[in-house]
Amino acid sequence: PAPGWTSTTDVVVVGSGVAGLTVALNVRKAGLRAMVVTKAMLDDGSTRWAQGGIAAALGEGDTPEQHLDDTLVAGAGLCDEDAVRALVTEGPDAVRRLIGIGAAFDLDAEGEILLTREGGHHRRRIAHAGGDATGAEISRALVSAVRSDPGLELIEHALVLDLLTDAAGHAAGITLHVMGEGQRDGVGAIRARAVVLATGGMGQVYSATTNPAVSTGDGVALALRAGAEVTDLEFVQFHPTVLFLGPDAEGQQPLVSEAVRGEGAYLVDRDGVRFMVGQHELAELAPRDIVAKAITRRMLEQGTAHMYLDGRHFGAAMWAERFPTILASCRAHGIDPVTDLIPVAPASHYASGGIRTDLHGRTTVPGLYACGEVACTGVHGANRLASNSLLEGLVFAERIAADLADLHAAGALPERAVDVAGARAAHAVPLLAPEARAEIQRLMSTGAGVIRSAASTAATAAGLARLAEEARTHTAEEKPADPRVETWESTNLHLVAGALVAAAALREETRGCHWREDHPDRDDTHWHHHLVTTLDEDGL
Ligand code: SIN
Repeated sequence: PAPGWTSTTDVVVVGSGVAGLTVALNVRKAGLRAMVVTKAMLDDGSTRWAQGGIAAALGEGDTPEQHLDDTLVAGAGLCDEDAVRALVTEGPDAVRRLIGIGAAFDLDAEGEILLTREGGHHRRRIAHAGGDATGAEISRALVSAVRSDPGLELIEHALVLDLLTDAAGHAAGITLHVMGEGQRDGVGAIRARAVVLATGGMGQVYSATTNPAVSTGDGVALALRAGAEVTDLEFVQFHPTVLFLGPDAEGQQPLVSEAVRGEGAYLVDRDGVRFMVGQHELAELAPRDIVAKAITRRMLEQGTAHMYLDGRHFGAAMWAERFPTILASCRAHGIDPVTDLIPVAPASHYASGGIRTDLHGRTTVPGLYACGEVACTGVHGANRLASNSLLEGLVFAERIAADLADLHAAGALPERAVDVAGARAAHAVPLLAPEARAEIQRLMSTGAGVIRSAASTAATAAGLARLAEEARTHTAEEKPADPRVETWESTNLHLVAGALVAAAALREETRGCHWREDHPDRDDTHWHHHLVTTLDEDGL
């Protein structure tokens, strides 16, 4: 269908996590009109689920330089040092500004921010809120700030479809599908002078993930269709300690924060052996990729589906005060961390790659910006350092807003002429049926999960090609899938899965969170560079 209605604003922000809402609040300060479009409710994205915290050099004796060093080591040779420098130097003040808008972090008796440790950090550097509910508090504060600005228009339950561009190829708005009642129901268009994608991750491309159901790679899929460059997709981070709920558990799984290990919990195997000791100088607090690999190896050696986390020595009071969310979610599944070992296994957690941007969040399509998990700013390299993601969302959102404010002040952010009526709203034909989602997840988990090989990625790619062929056949037989949200989500997941598995097949080395069992070593001679993906008429 062609868009049935049109709205106009200056800046349309897609996504309502820490990145999207920070852009929106900051462009408003620059006197621009802004509209936030989000797929579910404002707080339904990944930000709300972040537990451990937000990393910044706020503690005594800590410096941005030390934070930079830890970030570069975790990133395994592929971080962009300028981007990391921006992150770590602007980070502490960005966190203070977040506190300024009302985010309440946990404080000690003197009123100083309490800091914990997580994997790969050599210092206590992680600020947290509500014990282990940091993302929920940040989200609450930001949502409250945007709701108190009557000039900021909010559209919930709206799935972004495609980018609108003007005749010069500059971003000029988006098409979207609004679900539910009201005059906006159905496919519409928003015209804008600039478009910011802050749609979050793509964890739902795998069967088991810490990501909520809305994380279906919509932003990366849109960017690919719009001709933007996407990079580092093979570097999917698997969180080492996700509550193990059985081999067939699907969808969003409960996280057991690294901060639990940061406060002294141990990983033990089936026989009670602390297997991380001796593997890395930081033992359980080694960078996340190293811990996830060690767990997976030990699971394979012992023929088990999980390892255990032991935090029984914390005692009941500490569990209740410091980790109330995790305590409740474990107990809801019949495990009491005060008396029981917690069964844990790695699950997909974070896309270190995404839409390629510069230091101002600009993508390779003029007028299209990206920040947060959907973007690849270069700060994460081959493996994101724990708790750098909320910080990246915050810092680079501020940078985007500053860039837009500068353009606006210079009169260089004009309205864009766009043919809305002629815009194709059902973006990718043929569309995949909603049922394809489970098959995509199975294919990706089997062939492009924690461990990959040439054979496994080829099998996954073949399975994805088969799904596309089926969709083409149904369309040719005039039985196309209905253009509705579930269909577009399957289609987006299929596109990003194809891009991810192609990059994973191409990179014949093991680096960061990309683990090739047929190429077990890091190879700086051939692979010390990024893989860039684009989509054209011939495909990826
Ligand atoms: C956690 O709390 O372990 C998650 C932190 C992160 O993903 O950065």
